[in-house]
Amino acid sequence: MHRRTFLASLTGLVVAGPATAQMNHDMGSMGGHGNHNMPAAGTNPVLPEGQPLKELPRLSNRSAVPGVFKAKLAAEPGVVRYAEGLDTPVLLYNGTNPVIEASEGDTVEISFKNGILDEATTIHWHGMPVPADQDGNPTDPVAPGGERIYAFELPEGSAASYWFHPHPHGLTAEQVYRGLAGIFVVKPKDDPIPPEYGDTILMLTDLRIAADGTMPESTMSDLMNGRVGDHVLVNGQKNPAMAVGLGEKRRLRLYNATNARFLLLKFENASMTVVGTDGGLIEAPVAIDELLLTPAERVELIVSFDKPGAATLTTLGYERGWMGPGKPNEAGMILLTANVSEEAVAAMPPLPAKLRSIEPLGSPIVTRRFVLTESMGGMDHGDMSMQGMDHSSMSMSSDSMEMKFLINGASFDMNRIDEVSKVGQVELWEVVNEADMDHPFHVHGTQFQIVEREKDGKVITPPYRAWKDTVNIVAGETVRILLRQDLPGPRMYHCHILEHEQLGMMGTVDVQA
Ligand code: C2O
Ligand code: CU
Ligand code: CU
Repeated sequence: MHRRTFLASLTGLVVAGPATAQMNHDMGSMGGHGNHNMPAAGTNPVLPEGQPLKELPRLSNRSAVPGVFKAKLAAEPGVVRYAEGLDTPVLLYNGTNPVIEASEGDTVEISFKNGILDEATTIHWHGMPVPADQDGNPTDPVAPGGERIYAFELPEGSAASYWFHPHPHGLTAEQVYRGLAGIFVVKPKDDPIPPEYGDTILMLTDLRIAADGTMPESTMSDLMNGRVGDHVLVNGQKNPAMAVGLGEKRRLRLYNATNARFLLLKFENASMTVVGTDGGLIEAPVAIDELLLTPAERVELIVSFDKPGAATLTTLGYERGWMGPGKPNEAGMILLTANVSEEAVAAMPPLPAKLRSIEPLGSPIVTRRFVLTESMGGMDHGDMSMQGMDHSSMSMSSDSMEMKFLINGASFDMNRIDEVSKVGQVELWEVVNEADMDHPFHVHGTQFQIVEREKDGKVITPPYRAWKDTVNIVAGETVRILLRQDLPGPRMYHCHILEHEQLGMMGTVDVQA
């Protein structure tokens, strides 16, 4: 199945008539002549930088009943102006990337309409403890023009930085890069972070637009490595600016909502302290110098601005096992600029030393092993040079370009249950990456704790206990996690490089009551 999908998109790339110019662009980057970050002058649109950071719009609550959050969401085509004079056709929720903010204990009811006229979609509540039949699984598509209600409760202790995105079979990667994603923040009853720090959402996405403003179709390199864009955006803006006072501390929630971008981040002229991960606050603040945020991961930071002038959120280079030519130059991108005042603001309250308790999950009753592999059919990873590849070699329908991303040797099948589990059972999952690239591994329906990481015989335990729903498994590494599913039903686990998910690196665990 995944192969047919792949060949279909490959064929699409070759035969699509109006895409010839774009094809040259794509082939150029595949041949290593292009660079998504530094396109040749005149070929790619320039995005404005330095504009004031926008807040993503909040979805307003239509319920007057305390403890109930009700709203309507529609997935629909839209147009965004990223670059001067160019309209980019996109897909959006209610015309934007909305933020849903609710509180622990709330009941949530979202009336959803699929306004995409030719594609099924779903909403998946990434990281959230919602019932399996409300979680937008590929098996529960909402047909074009169709509607459904997603309803769930937010249990005590579930406060965290979640997000939501489509999860339809075979279309997830494309719908996400075309723009469908939103933020879901669950607030705790008592928040230990001082309100003076504010609460700023920074949603990181990755945009590739052609000279005419459209988003080019994915290339073979995109399918292999995951689609990486030309511009990493924050709340839809390139390198936006925020004004802060000298001595200020800000609470920033960073979301990697890109399809495939590995972001090794550093804040120049400001200091970062981690206070939360995918599944909410950690037990105590941890000061850090740099931070790897892989696709779908989130982090809550307290950033202290103690030097006047520009403090920039920048990227460092990271080796994630790029295949073939066209590796983007990822170091030195400025994602956000904080302009720190010369004059100091009134002293801010200190960050508390203790944020909350996270109980260890305890001893596992079951151990499962998941081996991640990739294969490129007849081609060896070493000589994936696609230089000189022309139409005829691109259009090969042979097995020589069969690309596979597998878990335990199998490609995702919606109609197959890969693992059978039980509600409430603590399990040890050993995720082994035998592939040549990093794969960020994600599990639906729950949060897990990382026990240890092992590579080349060396075992490392994490520096602090945290709730996670996505963890990067470095090439050659084994990561052991503890998890427990508290709700029954089928749950997916997969690589969150969405092209890999789509090309088969996904499985289903059926959690039985
Ligand atoms: Cu963001 Cu299957 O998930
Ligand atoms: Cu998910
Ligand atoms: Cu992957």
